[in-house]
Amino acid sequence: MTQPSLLSSTDGKLELTLRAEAKQVPWRDGTRFALTYNGSTPGPTIEIRPGDKLTIHLENALEEKTNLHTHGLHVSPEGNADNVFVSVSPGETFTYEYDIPLSQRSGLFWYHPHAHGTVAKQVAGGLAGAILVRDSLDALPWLAQSTERLLILSDPPIGSDSRTLDVGGMDAMMGRQGDVVLLNGVQTPIITSEAGSLERWRIVNASSSRYYRLGLAKHDLHLIGTDGGRLAAPRSVGELLLAPGERIEFGVTPDTAGTYEFQALAYDRGSMGMGGMMGNRGSNGSTSELTIATMAVTGNRPAAHLPNQIDTEANPGRLEPVAQRVLKLGMGMGGMMSGGMSFTIDGRVFDGERTDSDVSFETVEEWEIINTTPMDHPFHLHVWPFVLANDVNAGWKDTVNVPANQSVRILVPFAGLTGRTVYHCHILDHEDLGMMGTIEVRQR
Ligand code: C2O
Ligand code: CU
Ligand code: CU
Repeated sequence: MTQPSLLSSTDGKLELTLRAEAKQVPWRDGTRFALTYNGSTPGPTIEIRPGDKLTIHLENALEEKTNLHTHGLHVSPEGNADNVFVSVSPGETFTYEYDIPLSQRSGLFWYHPHAHGTVAKQVAGGLAGAILVRDSLDALPWLAQSTERLLILSDPPIGSDSRTLDVGGMDAMMGRQGDVVLLNGVQTPIITSEAGSLERWRIVNASSSRYYRLGLAKHDLHLIGTDGGRLAAPRSVGELLLAPGERIEFGVTPDTAGTYEFQALAYDRGSMGMGGMMGNRGSNGSTSELTIATMAVTGNRPAAHLPNQIDTEANPGRLEPVAQRVLKLGMGMGGMMSGGMSFTIDGRVFDGERTDSDVSFETVEEWEIINTTPMDHPFHLHVWPFVLANDVNAGWKDTVNVPANQSVRILVPFAGLTGRTVYHCHILDHEDLGMMGTIEVRQR
């Protein structure tokens, strides 16, 4: 299975250029239109370590503004670091510099554009790539000796020119879903494996709206890591739901020769409650079962086993919230699209000038995110990872699905970094349509 190209830091630094550009990329017997970093989609994988200095020259060769966000990294959101308020005009180059703190946990993160109003289109068009943070955990023998694979899931629109990026208002409101599901840019690749080996799959949902309910025929998935790094101990499950923006790492232990389908099972992320108006392809949020890849196993050998401990420092310990905050995800009529819907947090659409959540540095807060709408929304907070209040040892997260008409409580330690940034729905059309708020974490 193809892996994106790899750019790794050496001697504590990595400097690279990402050129955002529309290109024709290989597709079946011909080509398709895509938005690329350095000519490919997904873009190159960035491999770094805690303590590194990462420098990225973002060249904008698109016909509209863009910028760059390092999703999930615990780096400053200010200045020329992970600042989503930066806007890079066509023809311009902007240099980002990130100091990766020593407290950055190892894990799988990703980069993508974050210029409000254009994010869904640019990410769906192909602008995304992985960031792997490595540390001493990755050197644990069982991890180092397993077969690591990076799987970036996307569902781009297929077409020959830029018009393929335009979707109707209904598709945007529901959250656009593309024409095909690709794994590292390829449709239904074959993953060749040997019985007795430990496969370790690290998956990014880089789709702008599509949810993946993942399952592998005749195999359990042994969950090893979530958005923010490794778990204290593996958890075995039959299937895993991966909402847009989320990542997971799991082990697979084949023992019998054969071919097994890696599937996205049917999932219904709800609708806007106007079923009759929902027309054709992808404009409602349900997906039917499809095959993402095939695992072809050779040989017959006893299954590899996973240790029962992974990261002894993963669990957060006692988190005592000093403040509670409630955020209501909602939908309203009107807004930026006349006659359409606006997507809101606490009844308001995004305004970058307004500060919505004012937080004291070095405190823990408990947030309740209430979804008042009949569709799911994956809630994402930049910079500060959190845990789920009802299962604090389920792993560090930066994105969590809030199912239709339900709520989720999270505990967030606002430690390590101060600054002003955003939280939002990671159905990127909803973010573009206003479901985003600002947060300022400051010393007081
Ligand atoms: Cu992956 Cu604010 O984004
Ligand atoms: Cu992010
Ligand atoms: Cu949403």
